[in-house]
Amino acid sequence: MADNELDDGKRRFLITAGTVAATGAGAVAAAVPFVASMMPSERAKAAGAPVEVDVSNLEPGQRMIVEWRGKPVWIVRRTEEMLKMVKSDDDRVADPASTRSTQPSYAKNEFRSLKPEYLVLVGICTHLGCSPVDRLHAQPEPFAADWHGGFYCPCHGSLFDLAGRVYKNKPAPDNLTVPPYKFVSDTTLLIGEDTKGA
Ligand code: FES
Repeated sequence: MADNELDDGKRRFLITAGTVAATGAGAVAAAVPFVASMMPSERAKAAGAPVEVDVSNLEPGQRMIVEWRGKPVWIVRRTEEMLKMVKSDDDRVADPASTRSTQPSYAKNEFRSLKPEYLVLVGICTHLGCSPVDRLHAQPEPFAADWHGGFYCPCHGSLFDLAGRVYKNKPAPDNLTVPPYKFVSDTTLLIGEDTKGA
């Protein structure tokens, strides 16, 4: 076997094992201790170490949740239909261009994301800090008969669209926060670090 092939194989193994360790550290730590030792400790994670996330099993139209800095971070894989709903929501939301909301510069765009397909948000309401629930699909809901899909905060009734933008006249003042992140492969995200090393 050529050295290059060996190196490629080793690299693939480490990426796979490392990705699993980020989402299931307890189970992998015993089986692959040397990989686990490369992962950030719980203390380092709490202090803000970036978290690597494998999104290859995330189906279109679904959300997954990971923890970063002790906060829930949502990753939603949006369909074309969902993206159309975002485009149609501009007149419903309070800050359509995210001028007063918090996000990295590369997510200050109509879909609030690096790639339109993937939405990444800190899942904490900008009102008093509850975690909204997802109601991702367009269908009548008790809180909105013409719901386009997004997130609902039952604490005081704030609504957010599929870009995390808050609806007008709701208690939450700003859109949901987008954390720093980057893609390290087509299906692997690093939450908490971007190309500037934020
Ligand atoms: S905490 Fe979300 S609406 Fe109050």
